[in-house]
Parts: sequence; structure tokens; C-alpha cells
Amino acid sequence: MRACAQRAFLLCSMVFAEESRSGRAGLRSNDCNNAADFRELARRRLPAPLFHYIDGGADDEITLRRNTSAFDKVRLIPDALADLSSLDLSVKVLGQRLEWPVFCSPTAMSRLFHHHGEAAVCRAAHRHGTMYSLSTLATTSIEEIGALTPGPKCYQLYIHKDRAMSWDFIDRCKEAGFSALCLTVDTLVAGNRERDLRTGMVTPPRFTLASMLSFFAHPHWSLNYLAGKKFELANVAGHIDAGTSKLISVIDYINSQFDRSITWKDAEQAISRWAGPFAIKGVMSVDDARRAADIGASAIMISNHGGRQLDGSTAPFDQLGPIVDAVGDRIEVILDGGVRRGSHVLKALAMGARACMIGRGYLYALAAGGEPAVDRALGKLRAEVERDMILMGCDSAKRLNRSRLHFD
Ligand SMILES: Cc1cc2nc3c(=O)[nH]c(=O)nc-3n(C[C@H](O)[C@H](O)[C@H](O)COP(=O)(O)O)c2cc1C
Repeated sequence: MRACAQRAFLLCSMVFAEESRSGRAGLRSNDCNNAADFRELARRRLPAPLFHYIDGGADDEITLRRNTSAFDKVRLIPDALADLSSLDLSVKVLGQRLEWPVFCSPTAMSRLFHHHGEAAVCRAAHRHGTMYSLSTLATTSIEEIGALTPGPKCYQLYIHKDRAMSWDFIDRCKEAGFSALCLTVDTLVAGNRERDLRTGMVTPPRFTLASMLSFFAHPHWSLNYLAGKKFELANVAGHIDAGTSKLISVIDYINSQFDRSITWKDAEQAISRWAGPFAIKGVMSVDDARRAADIGASAIMISNHGGRQLDGSTAPFDQLGPIVDAVGDRIEVILDGGVRRGSHVLKALAMGARACMIGRGYLYALAAGGEPAVDRALGKLRAEVERDMILMGCDSAKRLNRSRLHFD
């Protein structure tokens, strides 16, 4: 009894110490105005291995940095006196009308970052009139997300060695009422994320003294995590043992379960099985964009997985112009990677993208404060896009074009 009371006292003091650490620096979710603020709060609130898992990229992180800095190479040219009394930010993406031209990328294992998990992001996306994408490696099931909101939802498919299970995902998505599917093609093997090696975020978990201390120093996260639902990769649970019961195993999971032999034929098969709006995620070259259009995909997501796979790869924004010029009249072109500001979205649209996707842009917020913070992050970004459109003197997302860009 006494030991219990002592433990409870210790935990309370640690929670209090954690709160006052954030408090001393004065940062709360409600003070966060942009992705950089949410990133900083996430850094303070998460045990280091988890923060670095979200934040990090492959090798020297050159591509990770380039994904955002690429937007700086063009500048916006505003028009004046253009009657901005009404503004239409809506776009049609993968058969769905989105109220504004940004939606949520699929990201694995959201429950590790906050106990609110994928459901929080899905609900927030719906409240903000946009689409949510659910990862194959999510901690919430296709069926749960399907039933959660009437909003548009895209399921992200990884083709596994277990083909029956992979095709079963497609059938489950149909049953669950998903609006679209995207097939990720840039992850045949896990990228070399050295931050994860340093913090011990690998399988089996190899926690260094520093990372153990970091979990201990974030009792808020630890308590919520332990009190919540058991961790599992909800969509593969029951099919594959690997990775379902262990806390952290995504790298080994990818390397052992994903099928490296997949080709455009498999993508074509997935398209015909789904028979609905279908995107290929991870297209970076003009030739692949043409192939995607040739096999009947509805969209491509120009993406390098947020700089987490091939370091030294070019940035999605660098490839946008050439890809739009080659296939923009045959297929929807969506930009994914590096988007942190409303002005990035305007530049992408002006270059010819139909819409943009964000990954870390909502994950930092989820980690920083759960569902209310994701709400705030999406609201802030949407307000930024609206404000920038007005300042650009452009009343419709569909009317931005390259004449509004200045190139160095
Ligand atoms: C923590 C994390 C997990 C991710 N998991 C997946 C995944 O399961 N499937 C996938 O296709 N992409 C995944 N991605 C990549 C995102 O879908 C997206 O391509 C990337 O985050 C875009 O870059 P941004 O974070 O700069 O917006 C993940 C990204 C992050 C940061």
C-alpha cells in the first residue's frame, strides 16, 4: 500500500515536472501558430525516440530538407484590385470535392505519438472539409475509420508478400466505404533512418540509457500510452505475427513483409480490383508518371515519402513542373512532401498540382496535443491558404497558374 502511494506520488511529481518544463518555456498547443511551433511542442512532449521517428529522414537528411527548401526557388507574383469578396478554394481530388486543396497523407502508427491516434486526425480532417488517408500500418482498423465519419477517406496500400492479405485490404475498403485507394511504391525496403538507430527505435527495441531516460522523463505520454488500447497494427493483426504485438518494429516489418518483386502489372491488378479512384504514391519521374497514366490510375502523388527513403532524391516540388507538363491533361497530379506553409500550397497549385498532402504538418500537432491540436493545425494552415489567396488577388484555387510565379 505504502509502495503504491510512493509510486503514485513519484508519477504525479514527474507529470508536474513535465508540465512545468513545457510551461516554463510558455508553449502550449493554443500558442502554436504554424508547423514549426507544433514541431517544437512535439519535441518537448514526446520521448526522444518517437519524436525523431516522426521528424527524421534517411541518411544525411538532404532530401528531407530539400523537400521544403525547394519551394524557395520560386516566388509568388500578386495581382491587385481583383474583387476578392468571394473565395473558392475547393478542388476535386480522386472523385471527392475537398473544401480546400490540402489533405492528410497516410502515416503509420499514430497511436504511438498520441493516444488519440488515427481517429483524431480523421475527425479533424472531416471537420475541416478534407480527406484523411489511412496507412496499411495504422493502429486503427479500416472498419473503425470507415465508420467514423461520412467524410472522404483514402486507404494507402502496401503490397505484401502475402498477396491474399493485400487484395483483402482492397475488399475490406470497399465494404467500409472508403472513397479512394493509393498504392505506395517507394518503400520496397525501409530507408536508412540513422536517428532511429541512435535512439534505439529498431527491432528488437534497443533502448540506450538516454532513450530509456527520455521515456521516464515523459510520464504523461507513458501513462496515456499504458492506459490506452493495446498497441497493434490493426489492419494486419490476425494475418501476420510480425509487428503486431511488439511496440516498435516497423523497419523489420517493412523489410520482411513487403514484396520487392512488384511491378506495374501488380499496380494494374490493384486498380482493376478496386475499380474506383486510385492513386500511385511515390512517383518521382516523368516516365513513371506516364506509366501510371497508361495503366489507368486516376492520380499520382509526387512523393519521396517525406525524405525518409532515398536520400539524395530530388524534391517533389522540383519534379512537379515537368510531370504536369507531361501528364497533367491525363491524370491528377498531387504534391506530397515538405509542405509547411500556405504559400507552399499556392506555389504547388500555380505550378499545376491539383492539391497538396501533408504528413508531419498534422503529426507534429497530434503529438503536441492530440485531436484539438490537429484541429488547430489544420485550421491555421487553411487560414493561411485563404489569406495568401486574397493577398495574391486570386479568388479560385483553379485559377492559379505559372504566370503567377517568378523563377530565378
Ligand atoms: C512518421 C511517418 C510515418 C509515415 N508512414 C507512412 C506510411 O505508412 N505509408 C505511406 O505511404 N507513407 C508514410 N509516410 C509518408 C507520408 O505519407 C508522406 O509522404 C510524407 O510525410 C510527406 O512529407 P511531409 O511529412 O514533409 O509532409 C510517413 C511519414 C511519416 C513522417
